[in-house]
Amino acid sequence: LEHVLHSNDHSEVRPRTLGFALPDPAATDALGAALARALPRESGLVITLEGDLGAGKTSLVRAMLRALGHRGPVKSPTYALVELYKLSSLCFYHFDFYRFTDPEEFVDAGLADYFLADAVCCVEWPDKAHGVLPAADLCVRFAIEPGANPAMAAAGGSRRVFLQSRSTRGDECLARVCPPSSIQRIGNNDAA
Ligand SMILES: Nc1ncnc2c1ncn2[C@@H]1O[C@H](COP(=O)(O)OP(=O)(O)O)[C@@H](O)[C@H]1O
Ligand SMILES: [Mg+2]
Repeated sequence: LEHVLHSNDHSEVRPRTLGFALPDPAATDALGAALARALPRESGLVITLEGDLGAGKTSLVRAMLRALGHRGPVKSPTYALVELYKLSSLCFYHFDFYRFTDPEEFVDAGLADYFLADAVCCVEWPDKAHGVLPAADLCVRFAIEPGANPAMAAAGGSRRVFLQSRSTRGDECLARVCPPSSIQRIGNNDAA
């Protein structure tokens, strides 16, 4: 089975990190669209998404799916564990392991079978499947920033997001990410 699973080289890559300020949901959507455009055309990718509840993980995946041509709803897979999207060009799987109490649940549910070499797999709460989840090519981390503007803080604040490559394929994808100039690049000093 191993040959059909992701066989990306994760050893040779010095992680590259890109940081962005996302002042509002529209910025999250724009970044999601940029990430969708940067996906590899001939292979899949494993993207993990970290950050608190409500940070914007599902929003980013929804924006990716819209940019890839999906017209229907994009539900959070919190209860289903996985939502499947057959797009014209690729298979797109959206996972959410928030409810896992043990990483073995990933194994018991047979979810490793979804991580095929040509599928795009977006995974919320990857830590909940630590040790059994296939290695990520790209890691997305959200941080919620309580804004100085009280109206913004009430809405949950703006976001900062860091995209880090974890494989050659992930690094090539990251190099292609080109969000609109309205989205401000930030340093990655806070990424640790
Ligand atoms: N950059 C942003 N600034 C402020 N609010 C945002 C931003 N991006 C998304 N949001 C809002 O925050 C919420 C994120 O929810 P969701 O994407 O379901 O989070 P998660 O999947 O991380 O739990 C949504 O209400 C969305 O409109
Ligand atoms: Mg979510």
